[in-house]
Order: sequence, then structure tokens, then C-alpha cells
Amino acid sequence: MRNLVAENSLRSADFIYPLFIVEGSGIRREVESMPGVHNFSLDQLPAEIDEIVSVGISCVLLFGIPQVKDAHGSGAYAASGIVQRAVACIKSRAPQLIVVTDVCLCEYTSHGHCGLLNEDRIINDSTVELLTRAAVSHAEAGADIIAPSDMMDLRVASIRKGLDGAGFQEVPIMAYSTKFASAFYGPFRDAAQSTPAFGDRKTHQLNPANSREAMRQAAADLAQGADILMVKPCGQYLDILSNLRQRFDCPLAAYQVSGEYSMIKAAAAQGWIDEARAAWESLICAKRAGADLIITYFAKDILSGRLEYEY
Ligand code: PBG
Repeated sequence: MRNLVAENSLRSADFIYPLFIVEGSGIRREVESMPGVHNFSLDQLPAEIDEIVSVGISCVLLFGIPQVKDAHGSGAYAASGIVQRAVACIKSRAPQLIVVTDVCLCEYTSHGHCGLLNEDRIINDSTVELLTRAAVSHAEAGADIIAPSDMMDLRVASIRKGLDGAGFQEVPIMAYSTKFASAFYGPFRDAAQSTPAFGDRKTHQLNPANSREAMRQAAADLAQGADILMVKPCGQYLDILSNLRQRFDCPLAAYQVSGEYSMIKAAAAQGWIDEARAAWESLICAKRAGADLIITYFAKDILSGRLEYEY
């Protein structure tokens, strides 16, 4: 009876599963601060893809961790870059799997910042040019959806123009449009080795205190051609999701970030919280708030049935 009147549910097509790809071979290394999440080298990827497909995941989000980083983040837009090769590998193994690629420079720069620096400041416009090159190179490798996570101004317009000009008019953009400067990205920065060497990301990521500014950012990304808007993090930002849902009719994605995942994992490991219940609750609440899609490190555990719960 409770199910009969449930207003929301989780289905396999709601989930996007993040994957971290590293250079080298024979690597399937668990991220210390994210139990159950691994870094994979390309040779280990096909087996992981088979497992992902077998549990019913239909979409993955790729992050690359290059061996060599430089001031210009050149690994981000190299045709032979780690993400570009990973996309090709996945598409040849499982062509039906939807591949989203994260576009940012922070994993590729020696200083760990999301763009080019002039002393200690990010240069917005030259960074946007490089992000656009990265986006086009991902599409050339076979990416289905481009997801800029850098938060530079006017990057969606530039990426849209770049994709269109290169013949990828049909590749949509999932914009990290309301991405907050959050403490909850901590474990990800371990996984992606992308902690800034100095300073922080407050010059371009949103202030957690602000909601109206978030609406303005989302509207700007939509006007520039974003197809899907994203809210990130998720659990602490459900009001943002709900406000966006009321204002805009486009698909909305919520990113349940590394810290949200790791907190549940850590408390569950202590026996302080029921992992399956907490994971399900965190995800169904994102749906209730207005998310159509959820990017979550729990996707595999939920869909494989390892974490089962019914509300
Ligand atoms: C930037 C990026 C970050 C995350 C996704 N894309 C880190 C950051 O902005 O510092 C965080 C995701 C997570 O915490 O799970 N490329």
C-alpha cells in the first residue's frame, strides 16, 4: 500500500556512476577515503565496464588522472589523454553505455587549480579556450555528453560553439551550473589528486550561503546552451534543486559528492548508521527535491542489490 502511493522511486536510468581512470597498468586501487571506489588503469577498465553493464548502470561519468601535470593542464585536451583513451576503450567494449566526461583542468594542472594562472589568479578567458579544446577532444574520442565542472564564466557558450563547429551539434552539455565551494569534495581530491597547491576555489565556485546567485548562474548556463543543469553537492543543497525544479523545465542532475558518500560509509563501518537505509534515503530525497538524474558513488551497490531497502 505504501508503494502504491509512493510519489517517487529510484530506477536504474536515474543513476550516473563516476569512474576514475589513471595512467599505468595493472591498477585497480581503492581510494582510501572512499571505500568501494577505485582508480582503474585502462587495462583494468574492460572488466569493470562489464560489471557496470551487468548490474544495469546505463551511464558513467569519467575523470582522468594523468601521469604528468603541467601549468597549462595539457593532458586535459591531448588527443591521447587519459580520458580520451578511456572513452574509446569504453565505447568499443559497451557502445550502449552513455559516457559523460568531466571537463576541468584541475586534475591536469601542476598547481591543481581549475584554470591557467597569472601569479595567483585564474585567467578566465584563456582557461575557457582550453576547456573548449578539452570538450571537443572528448567528443572526438566518442563522449556522449560533455560536463564542464570548472565554473569559469561563459564556458558553456564557448563549449557549445566549439562542439557545433567541430560537427558535434548533437552532443549535449550537462553543466555543473550550481557548484558550491564545498568541504564535501575532500575525498574526491584524494581520488583525483587535484587538491590546489595553494589557495582555494572560492573565486569561481559558489558561496554555500547563496541561493539567488545560484539561480542566476543556472539561468546563465541555460541561456548559453546547457541541456542539463547540475546541483553539486546534493544533500545540503536540496533547496537549490527544488528552486531550480520550479523555475526551469530542463532535466536536472544532482551530484551526491565524495564527502556525502564517505560520511555514510564511515558511519556504517562503525556500526553507527544503516548503510543501505541511509544511502537509499539520501537518493530518494534528491528525487523528491526535483532531481531527474543522480550522480552517485552508490550506484553500483544499489543496482547490484548489495544495498537493498524499500521505503
Ligand atoms: C572538478 C571536480 C570536482 C568534483 C567533480 N569535478 C572537485 C572540485 O571541484 O574540487 C568533486 C566530486 C566529488 O567530490 O565527488 N574537476
